[in-house]
Amino acid sequence: MKSVFIWSCCLFWLLLGKRILSRRTRRELASPLHLEGIRDPYGSYCQRRGGCCPGRDDMCTVPYLDTICYCDLFCNRTVADCCPDFWGHCLGVQPPFIGTCERNGNKFLTGQTYKENCNLCTCGSTGRWECEQNACMIEADMIQGVNRGRYGWRAANYSQFYGMTLDEGLRYRLGTQRPSRTILNMNEMQIIMLQPGGIIPLYFNSVEKWPGKIHEPLDQGNCAASWAFSTAAVASDRISIQSMGHMTPQLSPQNLISCDTRNQGGCAGGRIDGAWWYLRRRGVVTEECYPFSPPQQTPVEVARCMMQSRSVGRGKRQATQRCPNTYNYHNDIYQSTPPYRLSSNEKEIMKEIMDNGPVQAIMEVHEDFFIYKSGIYKHTDVSFTKPPHYRKHGTHSVRIIGWGEERKVDGTIQKYWIAANSWGKNWGENGYFRIARGENECEIETFVIGVWGRITMEDMHNHHHHHRKRK
Ligand SMILES: *[C@@H]1O[C@H](CO)[C@@H](O)[C@H](O)[C@H]1NC(C)=O
Ligand SMILES: *[C@@H]1O[C@H](CO)[C@@H](O)[C@H](O)[C@H]1NC(C)=O
Repeated sequence: MKSVFIWSCCLFWLLLGKRILSRRTRRELASPLHLEGIRDPYGSYCQRRGGCCPGRDDMCTVPYLDTICYCDLFCNRTVADCCPDFWGHCLGVQPPFIGTCERNGNKFLTGQTYKENCNLCTCGSTGRWECEQNACMIEADMIQGVNRGRYGWRAANYSQFYGMTLDEGLRYRLGTQRPSRTILNMNEMQIIMLQPGGIIPLYFNSVEKWPGKIHEPLDQGNCAASWAFSTAAVASDRISIQSMGHMTPQLSPQNLISCDTRNQGGCAGGRIDGAWWYLRRRGVVTEECYPFSPPQQTPVEVARCMMQSRSVGRGKRQATQRCPNTYNYHNDIYQSTPPYRLSSNEKEIMKEIMDNGPVQAIMEVHEDFFIYKSGIYKHTDVSFTKPPHYRKHGTHSVRIIGWGEERKVDGTIQKYWIAANSWGKNWGENGYFRIARGENECEIETFVIGVWGRITMEDMHNHHHHHRKRK
């Protein structure tokens, strides 16, 4: 009996000791809060906790930003993990690290911060501002560099990008994975060129050839889902053209983002071959039915799928749920046929657009593309004198709707594509951009995709009927 007690007692202390030990280890490994200047020196932490603890007490903590801080006297030994008000509240002395920094004629104390574009600056204990050194999406000197040089395009500041780092731009504003090697090696479609009367004009814009059938650029916000936006946009235009305007659905990117989740990353990027597979096998509803809801907090969160479809025979599908909103009840499912790859030959791409409508293209987005405002884009060298982290690129996908050419200042001709982006209509030329054509600028001619909608005579009749009934 006695020995059992002794054993359990020792076991108890052994376990407790181990717990304390592991805590100490963790505490000593904890990242020092004050080494790079404290971030919030004025909050009441120890005070809010209800006081300070004598000696060492590893439980004597308060939540502090994304970690914890201590109010026991042990913290004074290392200084590194004390709460900001420890010195004032527990010891009644000035913190040992106060300095003052100046900015615009005003004085700031150690730990005070301000944000300079995408970088946080903190007043350090030595009285100097210490700023993060991130490359930003909008860099004033990059805008100036482009606008002063003769690059053939103009740059502008966009408030929706200002304050974001370049890494964030590449992470949240693009979102197309580079097609795998096998997909890249997909056979290209042979386009029969030079038919009688098949002359390719110098200028072509799908919006003018098919008025009311080419959809305006959307805004993907901070959702890296250009894979869904470009696919939905091309399919929307193709269905509208092919049905001769009997149906002009703007297909829902959100339907793809939330429901095409197999090997897809939603707002964290995805693959266009997966998106086409889904459009063909499952189909999607319209944007009005299943509206885009940009992620609010963490940009990669994905809302659960709110739309399913089932087969109704002959390859056709029907929605099994209502539209996830209260004002629209048209939950028709739209599908495509398998997509086809075009060659990288500029003339063949042009012929395809002219005959069948807009195409989808992959492109590499470089740091200077975000600030594009107008003109014919080409990647510039304005960031070449800066450190390497200012020069980065990521894969994106867009919709090419036409082409043209323009005489440059030096008298030579610059050929271009007209393409729709998915960064809203205040970006670029009303949401569109022009980019050099025939030279695979930013790899835009590397991987180009066309598709057919799946439309029957019955569809045409039904939709026409709908349309008339509503009017
Ligand atoms: C705590 O730090 C202050 C300032 O560095 C020092 O004056 C004081 O003696 C320290 N107190 C203890 C208990 O270590
Ligand atoms: C860009 O716009 C933001 C406001 O949206 C402004 O604070 C900033 O100073 C501007 N930057 C440049 C380089 O013009």
